[in-house]
Amino acid sequence: MKLHKTIVVKSKTADFLNTVSMIPKRLAEVNSSSAEPARAPENYAVNVVAKALHPQKLSLRIRRIEEHSADVKSYYLTWENNVPTPYFRAGQYLTVQLKVGPSLLTRPYSLASSPSSALHGEYHIMVKRVPDGFASGYILDNWKVGERITAFAPEGNFVYEPLRDAKTVVGLAGGSGITPFLSFARAIADGTEDFNLTLLYGARTKDEIVFKAELDQIAKTCSKVKVVYVLSEAKTVGAGYEKGFIGADLIKKYAPENEPYSVFVCGPGAMYRFLGQELPKLGIADKYIRMEMSAGARKLADEPGYPTDLLGKTFCLTVIDRGETTQIEAKAEDSILCSLEKAGIAVPARCRSGECGFCRSKLVSGEIFLPQGIDRRRMADVEFGYIHPCCTYPLSDVTLKIN
Ligand code: FES
Repeated sequence: MKLHKTIVVKSKTADFLNTVSMIPKRLAEVNSSSAEPARAPENYAVNVVAKALHPQKLSLRIRRIEEHSADVKSYYLTWENNVPTPYFRAGQYLTVQLKVGPSLLTRPYSLASSPSSALHGEYHIMVKRVPDGFASGYILDNWKVGERITAFAPEGNFVYEPLRDAKTVVGLAGGSGITPFLSFARAIADGTEDFNLTLLYGARTKDEIVFKAELDQIAKTCSKVKVVYVLSEAKTVGAGYEKGFIGADLIKKYAPENEPYSVFVCGPGAMYRFLGQELPKLGIADKYIRMEMSAGARKLADEPGYPTDLLGKTFCLTVIDRGETTQIEAKAEDSILCSLEKAGIAVPARCRSGECGFCRSKLVSGEIFLPQGIDRRRMADVEFGYIHPCCTYPLSDVTLKIN
């Protein structure tokens, strides 16, 4: 086992010397401080404020439901009447917790509201029915106005960073992947965010476009937002529309010509696979490409390197949770997190796409499969056998230590 890593840090010499010169002062502060453990740190003013601003769990109430179609609905969630909900950044998501029969589930939904909505005590999420999906169908068929929903405070990195991203963002939205872009557009329009957004919004037909009236209104009144609808199944299209799929040619057509631009992508799995071949044709630096990782179930048969002869098989998943051992079934095509949830075993999870690290667990034994491009584990976790069960699939019987 390797115990040492070589880390190369490139820095300006002045920065380095400034940091080094701070060490004696910091050491003196540490040495002169009390050795007594902190008393009741939860009462420190900073911790009280942090807890109020970033509570771990929220008990939200459904204030209003808007039906876009039988399979797509918007839910407007509030904390307590007129009490601001914890603030968030445009592009982040809200993870809701569900109890469906014996299963304990979490599902992340991008917030569609501008962050300013939190100041008025409201979050807006949109839920689209996923064919054969477990949670989306339950929500669409069961959530009613007035019902209480448990959620975790907003999270996520699909946000605009002025230090990293170009002043113009070309947003590529597919289907229900429109929600974070709606949040961006609303936030730009109300002055919460300051960048230019050119949105290419892909759908199969005009009927599948949601929030068209609002997006058109924002584009009409706010010069920083442009919207183009891209229809894959339309025979003819009019002004403001394009026909086909969002690819490199279309992006180049609407992107600024002589200045850098960032590309943000949120949509279904097929869109990521297609764009994986198209985006390199743009010739822009990797740092200008931001992908919101899909939290949906993966079709393993389409994943390069997956041994498809295992599809349909069921393995034994041995779960060690704080000394207690349980054995459950794990289907080859279910992520390990999915199998845990189906068995009613609660694992902390938020993003379900390998990014947040909340579900991090120790793989004690067994063979696993990780689809390409979603391994976001720290190097130390890879080396010491930790996995993210939300995006890991069993290839054999597996033993896992959770929590
Ligand atoms: S839930 Fe985020 S990494 Fe697994």
